[in-house]
Amino acid sequence: WCYVVLLLGTLACCTAVAAHTIARLRVGPPLAVLRPAALLSLQELDFPAVALCSHNIISRAALESYASYLYSLERNNTYSMESLKNNLMAFSGVMTSAGQMAFDANFTKYLAAVARETNITNIIYKLSPKCESMLVRCSWGMHRTACRHLFAKRVTDLGYCCVFNARYSLEDRNNTPFRATMVGQDSGLSVVIQENTDDFTAVRRTGEELQLLLFDGSQYPLTRAGVIRSYPVRRSASVFVTLRATVQRASDSLRHYSEAWVGLCYHSEAWVSTSLGIK
Ligand SMILES: *[C@@H]1O[C@H](CO)[C@@H](O)[C@H](O)[C@H]1NC(C)=O
Ligand SMILES: *[C@@H]1O[C@H](CO)[C@@H](O)[C@H](O)[C@H]1NC(C)=O
Ligand SMILES: *[C@@H]1O[C@H](CO)[C@@H](O)[C@H](O)[C@H]1NC(C)=O
Repeated sequence: WCYVVLLLGTLACCTAVAAHTIARLRVGPPLAVLRPAALLSLQELDFPAVALCSHNIISRAALESYASYLYSLERNNTYSMESLKNNLMAFSGVMTSAGQMAFDANFTKYLAAVARETNITNIIYKLSPKCESMLVRCSWGMHRTACRHLFAKRVTDLGYCCVFNARYSLEDRNNTPFRATMVGQDSGLSVVIQENTDDFTAVRRTGEELQLLLFDGSQYPLTRAGVIRSYPVRRSASVFVTLRATVQRASDSLRHYSEAWVGLCYHSEAWVSTSLGIK
């Protein structure tokens, strides 16, 4: 009796293991193969996109200037300068998870009537800190380069940031990606950043002065998707990020699976994804 029970037990166990393995095989395609990029030249690799995000959502200078502009547009002075600024400040709630400030529907109507502005994103764009005021000195590939040629103010999950090498938004679609030509500490991107804390009004969070994001510039940096790296950048500090190249090549065995099952389009030879990893 005893043996019989044991045998059944083993059998049950094996069946369970097999079922588990089959289930795993059904769940996902074979893993992509990782290879070091020794065979690949640096010129074939897109440099990652770099976003520099201030914790300040609304610049005091931009707020003053936009409120004055609105004030000058309307003769009735329905809103005082102070209440114009307060109402504009409420838009920062859109960019913070707290979103504690409720905005007044009358004010949105007023903006549409007086300034013909119905695009809240555009208002937040106008009110966010300018990259010119943040980026002091930039260099790319050992050459001093005007920061405005490298960075543009683009939207991310953290609000508007100064972004280098982004191709995810419509206006940047046709930009050619930046690629490093040399290996070495100074041959990538270097930036000197300065932030004026007197210009801070609505702050996303206190603490580190800035957030640095690294991601693939062809895709929107979705924080939740986990394909971006985020580093805090403290004041009066230097941050060095070493990039290391890796190549991800789809396993040849993917060929034997249907596209529907794999869940992506596998172009026989062409599906080679290269990326710069971060050490
Ligand atoms: C300003 O006042 C005039 C007359 O008093 C009125 O017709 C107009 O609608 C007002 N404009 C706004 C934006 O309230
Ligand atoms: C919005 O405007 C209406 C009509 O002018 C007024 O009755 C109402 O109190 C206003 N709402 C706020 C929040 O100011
Ligand atoms: C709203 O403004 C943003 C920022 O300027 C712009 O990118 C976007 O295209 C605008 N949306 C519409 C519908 O005009």
